[in-house]
Amino acid sequence: MSMDLNGQRVVITGITGGIGRASAERLLQAGADVIVSARSQDKLDAALAELSGKASGYVLDLLDMDSIAGFFEKVGKFDHLVTPAATSMFAPIADMDFDAARAIIESKQWGQMMTVHHAIKQMSKTGSITLFSGTVTQKPLPGSSMFAAVGAATEASARVWGLELAPLRVNTIVPGIIETPVWSGLMGAEAGAEALNGFASVLPVGRVGTADDIAKAVVFLIDNGFVDGESLVVDGGHRLI
Ligand SMILES: NC(=O)c1ccc[n+]([C@@H]2O[C@H](COP(=O)([O-])OP(=O)(O)OC[C@H]3O[C@@H](n4cnc5c(N)ncnc54)[C@H](OP(=O)(O)O)[C@@H]3O)[C@@H](O)[C@H]2O)c1
Repeated sequence: MSMDLNGQRVVITGITGGIGRASAERLLQAGADVIVSARSQDKLDAALAELSGKASGYVLDLLDMDSIAGFFEKVGKFDHLVTPAATSMFAPIADMDFDAARAIIESKQWGQMMTVHHAIKQMSKTGSITLFSGTVTQKPLPGSSMFAAVGAATEASARVWGLELAPLRVNTIVPGIIETPVWSGLMGAEAGAEALNGFASVLPVGRVGTADDIAKAVVFLIDNGFVDGESLVVDGGHRLI
């Protein structure tokens, strides 16, 4: 069944990222009016030019509270919010870079919270919010303690916001190991590719995830008006091993 999101305005944060970009493509295919963000005007212009449909966008930096407020004032009224934008870091507690750790809290946890706070002033009550966590909340992976902590906090907050904002729906996508630029950013190109190959060889489905696997989940959560308060795991069976 093909989804029809004609007439729906959807905001996606972080269009330069793997999951943000793939989600924008899927939503454009479904007929949605897509509004995106990037951290600079140059990045925004380049990303908009690469999309296969027509989208619009504004600059947004999640570490700057005025930027978040200003972004949603410019966006105006809309129906659905999708928040994949976040910084990443990977380190065991013994070698933790605490500035990077704080940046994850500020962009992924605090950033998603502030995004929701400002977004809801503009959102339709019949719309939805799709937040992002990660399977490390359920499947411990050495080095991922900050991801795990911030993801668990996001999932817990999302369930509370689902009640506070009803009938607006609030769900969280819990991605497993997904091939996006985040891996080369975290480890360098070679080590990132090696890590992904290693995961592919042990995952039950025999491969790592694609950004499009997550984008399909984004469209599903927007389209299905009876899914609310859900943490939707999309991980190729990673939790099973
Ligand atoms: N990929 C995975 O394996 C995986 C697994 C579990 C969970 N997730 C989660 O899924 C979400 C999307 O992941 P992804 O793999 O698509 O990440 P990605 O490719 O690294 O993209 C991250 C996006 O966030 C933007 N961003 C970073 N810091 C920002 C800030 N301060 N203000 C505004 N935008 C900012 C980046 O913009 P720039 O281009 O300017 O840096 C980029 O557009 C994240 O929450 C991630 O933690 C991913």
